[in-house]
Amino acid sequence: MDKNQLTEHLKFYQELGVTGISRDPAWRRRVGPTLSPPGDPTDPVVPDDAVPVPVRVMRSAAELLRATREDIGDCTRCQLHAMGRKQIVFGVGNPSANLMFVGEAPGGDEDVQGIPFVGRAGQLLTRIIEAIGLSRDDVYIANVIKCRPPGNRNPEPSEVEKCEPFLFRQIDAIQPKVIVALGTFAAKTLLKTQDPISRLRGRIFEYRGAKLIPTFHPAFLLRSPERKRDVWEDMKKVRGLLQESAD
Ligand code: URA
Ligand code: URA
Repeated sequence: MDKNQLTEHLKFYQELGVTGISRDPAWRRRVGPTLSPPGDPTDPVVPDDAVPVPVRVMRSAAELLRATREDIGDCTRCQLHAMGRKQIVFGVGNPSANLMFVGEAPGGDEDVQGIPFVGRAGQLLTRIIEAIGLSRDDVYIANVIKCRPPGNRNPEPSEVEKCEPFLFRQIDAIQPKVIVALGTFAAKTLLKTQDPISRLRGRIFEYRGAKLIPTFHPAFLLRSPERKRDVWEDMKKVRGLLQESAD
């Protein structure tokens, strides 16, 4: 690493509110790529003699995600389809990811590009992902709501009710080891609680076979940069859980 790169590196840790470098040797180990090899134990492999009659259909995570996207179709299930959204923002990343991020709903940039978390908050999320040695291609990123609410207002319960089953299908297809719920809205939706994120973060929940870590939304961090430190603590936990599950 040359001097410029090192300066960049330190600047970016600073940006995330990280002030010290851990001497814990665990931090020198990088989490390997999250692409599962064929026959990965997370795939629900059914032994041949257990094949139910008449057919056994095994579908990969990628296929299940594709099928979910097809079922959404050109969705008109809730009112958001007629409220100015340009397109459905389904999700992006590695179908076999060990780590999945769940946000609230697309904003303006996401609505234009069709990809979650590409605006200013998204760029911060990208740096947060990179801070634990991963890239956006290693993880999967989705939102509770697939269409942009007008003026970025909070999604309404009727919209959540229509849209959340698709998020659940995404989670069940990917079967991540760890889910990070970004912000109050995602955390409340997934955990079916009324507790605000300030009460939920710092804890680890069991959720659909994964560990769920609620943390602050990156858009909140843009307004309250002093909370980046908390998110860093949460991300260290995420990294620890990913390492545990790889051991
Ligand atoms: N891990 C740490 O503890 N500190 C850093 O700055 C980066 C990784
Ligand atoms: N905020 C979100 O919750 N999701 C996005 O995709 C972008 C911003």
